[in-house]
Amino acid sequence: MITLKVNGETRSVNVDPQTPLLWVLRDTIGLTGTKYGCGIAFCGACTVHLDGQPTRSCSIAVGDVGESAITTIEAVEGKAAKAVQTAWQNLDVVQCGYCQSGQVMAATALLAGNAKPTDADIDAAMTNICRCATYQRIRAAIHEAARLMEI
Ligand code: FES
Ligand code: FES
Repeated sequence: MITLKVNGETRSVNVDPQTPLLWVLRDTIGLTGTKYGCGIAFCGACTVHLDGQPTRSCSIAVGDVGESAITTIEAVEGKAAKAVQTAWQNLDVVQCGYCQSGQVMAATALLAGNAKPTDADIDAAMTNICRCATYQRIRAAIHEAARLMEI
């Protein structure tokens, strides 16, 4: 049995410690907002926060999570998360939506650590893939979120 801290709750799961965290979040716990894309830490669709750091959950074994607090798209909150979610709506960022929970998690972690990111900061932090190519709107929305955080 492995004990995890997920979205502020303690969850015990009976899985092989080598199971990717993404599988446990989606299939065992039922938090399906986090998506599977590539399975090789490339696309970012599976991004969650471990102690606030964006982490590709397809590529970390659940047995290696330890005491780290896991936050998923279902529960991400705080000033940066609210600003990101508002900016995403204001600028109508989402196209098909599949990549967007990972994008929101990555953008929220960026803004939580850097309230006024430059284009270069955004490009460095936002390595998530979007098959619909919403990259320009994502960049604009991150600047909009930074502006909202100042209000
Ligand atoms: S599914 Fe994890 S990075 Fe693509
Ligand atoms: S919005 Fe469709 S993959 Fe990004």
